[in-house]
Amino acid sequence: MKAIQIGLLGLGTVGSGVVKIIKNHQDKLMHQVGCPVVIKKILVQSLHKTRPSEVDPALLTSTPSDILHDPEIDVVIEVMGGVKETKEYLLSALRQGKHVVTANKDLMALHGSELLTVASENGCDLFYEASVAGGIPILRGLVDGLASDRITQMMGIVNGTTNFILTKMSQDGLNYEDVLKEAQELGFAEADPTSDVEGLDAARKMTILATLGFSMNIELDDVQVKGISNITEEDLRYGKQLGYTMKLLGYAHREGEKVEVSVQPTFLSDNHPLASVQNEYNAVYVYGEAVGETMFYGPGAGSLPTATAVVSDLVGVMKNLRLGVNGRSAVTPQYPKRLKDDNE
Ligand code: HSE
Repeated sequence: MKAIQIGLLGLGTVGSGVVKIIKNHQDKLMHQVGCPVVIKKILVQSLHKTRPSEVDPALLTSTPSDILHDPEIDVVIEVMGGVKETKEYLLSALRQGKHVVTANKDLMALHGSELLTVASENGCDLFYEASVAGGIPILRGLVDGLASDRITQMMGIVNGTTNFILTKMSQDGLNYEDVLKEAQELGFAEADPTSDVEGLDAARKMTILATLGFSMNIELDDVQVKGISNITEEDLRYGKQLGYTMKLLGYAHREGEKVEVSVQPTFLSDNHPLASVQNEYNAVYVYGEAVGETMFYGPGAGSLPTATAVVSDLVGVMKNLRLGVNGRSAVTPQYPKRLKDDNE
């Protein structure tokens, strides 16, 4: 029984969680996929930083080709973030027949269509469940669970950092800067938290959700975005007095072929199910013509929740390997074919 060999790109908050889950859940993984899962190499920026005790220092490398050109590596897991360089790494991995699991919403929102095309051309899986709403299996929920329905509306609290900030400001009367610092220390915020607080992170996630949920070509530039950096504790307090809670809300709606996607601070009635979503938790409310209202809820950021989605995608890749259907399995959340692809 040949072990599956993994190359891990990145060992930050999520990468460390991936190492822990693969190590601590080996029995469960064995049971699910029928063979051992081994991390063969880990790409890091610095070889000399202190690492979690689960990490074997002998696995670390600062040379991407040690992973990308290692023929024994079957699956590349990308949790390093970034767009330009990371895209080149993943294209290189896919062209060499390696399956890819990524948590990278920036990359998938901007280049998901191209990457998925290259994956399918090379018979590879490219899974990205962790790119939206951390530990909530929302992409498979949309693509598989609601496959028979026509989704017309989604509302999402899809950024843990801003939900954490708004919750603490509203409930504990804390100020914006202090709570943002705490979110950074807890590992929820992006390296540059501007994309969290100005709504761009949520906009990228809503782009992915709307693309998959509506099976339409939604571009990041189509999303209207406004963040929470101007919101004061006073705004939240007055809202509260009137029975409203403020959330950074992603909204996607379609009517016929017309689609509207936005992210903005929104007062929700305290009775709305999304109003009770607190701290770094995320929730996506989905309305389908047949099913009616559904809501997916769970931790949207943080090491182990996000790593759970990553490792579950890895299990998906390995199940497909056993069945010999990589790159064409029904559970791959594919982007719809873009018009510009037709013209190429
Ligand atoms: N910075 C992101 C958030 C991390 O706060 O939701 C998870 O994507």
